[in-house]
Amino acid sequence: MIRLATPADVPSIVQLERACVSAAHWTEQQYRRLFESGGTERIVLVADAPFHSARDENAPGSSCDILGFLVARHLTPEWELENLVVAPTARRQGLGMKLLHALVAMARETTSHSVFLEVRESNAAARSLYEKTDFAQTGRRKAYYKDPAEDALLYRFSLE
Ligand SMILES: CC(C)(COP(=O)(O)OP(=O)(O)OC[C@H]1O[C@@H](n2cnc3c(N)ncnc32)[C@H](O)[C@@H]1OP(=O)(O)O)[C@@H](O)C(=O)NCCC(=O)NCCS
Repeated sequence: MIRLATPADVPSIVQLERACVSAAHWTEQQYRRLFESGGTERIVLVADAPFHSARDENAPGSSCDILGFLVARHLTPEWELENLVVAPTARRQGLGMKLLHALVAMARETTSHSVFLEVRESNAAARSLYEKTDFAQTGRRKAYYKDPAEDALLYRFSLE
């Protein structure tokens, strides 16, 4: 169900991201650049929707053929989680955790020691997911986010 994304997934990724206010927002071109060679090493994972799943076709993000995605970049010697989104209709079914576990498994294949991420302090769902997945809070960046202004909390997962 979880696989490496290809450029053909970009329209679905963009559609899903647009339906999630708390996701990091990038342009379609920025998503396409993730697949260009020569840049920063990245992992882009998607969770496929099961064939004819019982999705609510009227709900935002539900007409997509993917149910979630994750983007991480390799800033040697660390990995950074850049974005993680699960479709509103597919939440609380363990998909976010599965995507994170898949990232950790791939990151363990490298020589890196840690996966880092930052998250809005008010994003209780994401913070709870990260803490349940054994990310430890390591710091805070005051007023890091804009519109609305908010602190970022920093988390680290040890690959050791
Ligand atoms: C954060 C997000 C990715 C979680 O995905 P998910 O697939 O629903 O998460 P999971 O089902 O794997 O949840 C695993 C655990 O995380 C915690 N969790 C997830 N959503 C939660 C919520 N809304 N409230 C409280 N805890 C939550 C729970 O501990 C949960 O375990 P449980 O269901 O057994 O109680 C999803 O809510 C999302 O896409 N949010 C919008 C985008 C976003 O904010 N991304 C992160 C910042 S870039």
